[in-house]
Amino acid sequence: MDNSKIKRYTVTAALPYTNGPVHIGHLAGVYLPADTYVRYLRSNKRDVKFICGSDENGVPITLKAKKEGVTPQVVVDKYHKIIGDSFKEFGVSFDIYHRTSSLTHHQTASDFFKTLYEKGVFTEEVTEQYYDETAQTFLADRYITGTCPKCGNENAYGDQCESCGSTLNATDLINPKSTLSGEPPVRKETKNWFLPLDQYEERLRTYIEEHKEWKPNVYGQCQSWLNAGLQPRAMTRDLDWGVKVPVKGADGKVLYVWFDAPIGYISATKELFEYARLDVWNPKAEEYYINQGEVEKGNWEEYWKDEATKLVHFIGKDNIVFHCIIFPAMLMAHGDYILADNVPANEFLNLEGQKISTSKNWAVWLNEYLVEFKDKQDVLRYVLTATAPETKDNDFTWKDFQARNNNELAAVLGNFINRVVVLTHKYFGGKVPMCMNLTAEDQQVIDDLAAFPAKVSASIENYRFREALAEVMNVARLGNKYLADTEPWKVIKTDEDRVRTILNISLQIAATIEILIEPFLPFTADKLMKMLNYGGYLWEDAGKMNLLHRGHQLNEPVLLFEKIEDEAVQAQIDKLNQSKADNISATAVAAPVKDNIQFEQFGAIDIRVATIVAAEKVEKTKKLLKLTLDTGIDQRTVVSGIAEYYKPEAIIGQQVSLIVNLAPREIKGILSQGMILMSEDADGKLAFVAPVQSHQNGSVIK
Ligand code: 2FM
Ligand code: ZN
Repeated sequence: MDNSKIKRYTVTAALPYTNGPVHIGHLAGVYLPADTYVRYLRSNKRDVKFICGSDENGVPITLKAKKEGVTPQVVVDKYHKIIGDSFKEFGVSFDIYHRTSSLTHHQTASDFFKTLYEKGVFTEEVTEQYYDETAQTFLADRYITGTCPKCGNENAYGDQCESCGSTLNATDLINPKSTLSGEPPVRKETKNWFLPLDQYEERLRTYIEEHKEWKPNVYGQCQSWLNAGLQPRAMTRDLDWGVKVPVKGADGKVLYVWFDAPIGYISATKELFEYARLDVWNPKAEEYYINQGEVEKGNWEEYWKDEATKLVHFIGKDNIVFHCIIFPAMLMAHGDYILADNVPANEFLNLEGQKISTSKNWAVWLNEYLVEFKDKQDVLRYVLTATAPETKDNDFTWKDFQARNNNELAAVLGNFINRVVVLTHKYFGGKVPMCMNLTAEDQQVIDDLAAFPAKVSASIENYRFREALAEVMNVARLGNKYLADTEPWKVIKTDEDRVRTILNISLQIAATIEILIEPFLPFTADKLMKMLNYGGYLWEDAGKMNLLHRGHQLNEPVLLFEKIEDEAVQAQIDKLNQSKADNISATAVAAPVKDNIQFEQFGAIDIRVATIVAAEKVEKTKKLLKLTLDTGIDQRTVVSGIAEYYKPEAIIGQQVSLIVNLAPREIKGILSQGMILMSEDADGKLAFVAPVQSHQNGSVIK
């Protein structure tokens, strides 16, 4: 969008699901780039609203509630506060952090649906869905478990198998079971309202193709969706938690969470202006984390309906289709709204080489970090921006966190600021000295400094935050080099005026750093502002030589960054390793205990000690071995699926436990008489179960 046409900005950050706290992956992928962008815009005096909130509808929340034995409202109340507080403490400067369980949101989403309904946008379709007769409810895919048809995992979900990663439909599962009642669900017809995405395909294609400047990952994903051909998608669900479908005959149905969530951006903006109009204290200010520093002019509609508004959505890559295809189609269908100018989605952040996993507790949770690394918000902000997964998945490691703090923040940025402020206090009582005659070297540094703000701006405006931050650090490097080259601590003995000039220039560099670092490290900028005893700069001031005037009094130096010691990061690594260990033992015992049996049933199984006397692979199979066993009663053949773990020649003479009275079965044309008992670990590895000392073949196991 042509910069000269932009009157205002609406910047949104994906509404996090309110079924758990947020972790570093969320911060790195979405909230830090968004916050940096918005702070930069504000520093440029642009009119911007920064919108976010809790995504409180949808199945994951009802599942969490069920697991904890509470209502969904209790779950969202709890996590809305935890998440909202974490964002606030990390300095993520939303104008509002709203909630989709609010009345304003329910009304806005409901009205939006009604408008589309009245325009005849939706098609009504009757489909067969799984229904739990005991619980008397339709089942979302997540509420159904069963055996994965691809890998045999018995605990696959209706939408996904977490063991092999396949995306599934609930109807693909073998032996499906409802997680509500444990009963097999039945299929039942139900009516839902579908958005005919196919009818918007051409308009969406035009829209996407007008935005070739989008990040390649985003543009590419949109193209592949469009090329595959869009299908109508249900915008309502049979569920009792969410925004009720506001039409006749829709009892027991709510809006699809991906229909209402993006409307959450709109309802939050509405709430923000609604709040501002009330001239009295309003408890909502706290609940919705409203930025009260702003005097609201205008109205919410300008931020969503005026072509001179630039709309930008910050999201993670798993949200691309919803923000670039489905939400735009909804907005097109409505007709009154502008479309996003950019959707700078990031890839994923891994942790110590592994995918972040909420369920496996393989994560660094923001609320825990805030306790364990008190007042070190900017260290994490720095590391996560410096390693942001902008173009590919990236890895966060605690060692890298420590190294970047110690070698970059402390050694480069902190060191420069500290030296300048300390020297100014030492030689000139903390007063900004006068700039005297400039040498060619000084002039070069002044010219170099002046070039930085435009470079940083260009990177930020193109959503390249890593590059932008690296440039800001280069300003500190420029300052360090200047001090190292000019050596004021030596020159002071012979030429005090020269030192005045050096420190004046160095202090102007420090003031420029204050301006340029603020969007990235707001807490550091604040400390720097206090040290320099001056704030209120705008971006346009950066790089100038007259930011701190001669005679201006500085405050005492404070350390910007402390070293992070080995013990602190080791404690974090240990904590992760503990999660890993907990998980292994949790999965090891995770196989559900079968229903009770009677002793007679156990007694009916005849288990004996036997010895393998011959073994060979069954042709054209990977897993099967044909074994000959001496049972003490007879010699018999058993086919066993152990070829992946044992070589035939290695198991001759091995004693085993054999069920001798299992009805014979033909396997690959071989009559198998009995079954060898094996133990299976969490990774599916098999081992023989045998007497610990050699026993006579035919001995009874009981
Ligand atoms: O992926 C998620 O966490 C979703 N809750 C994001 C929603 S973004 C928007 F549409 F609200
Ligand atoms: Zn599977």
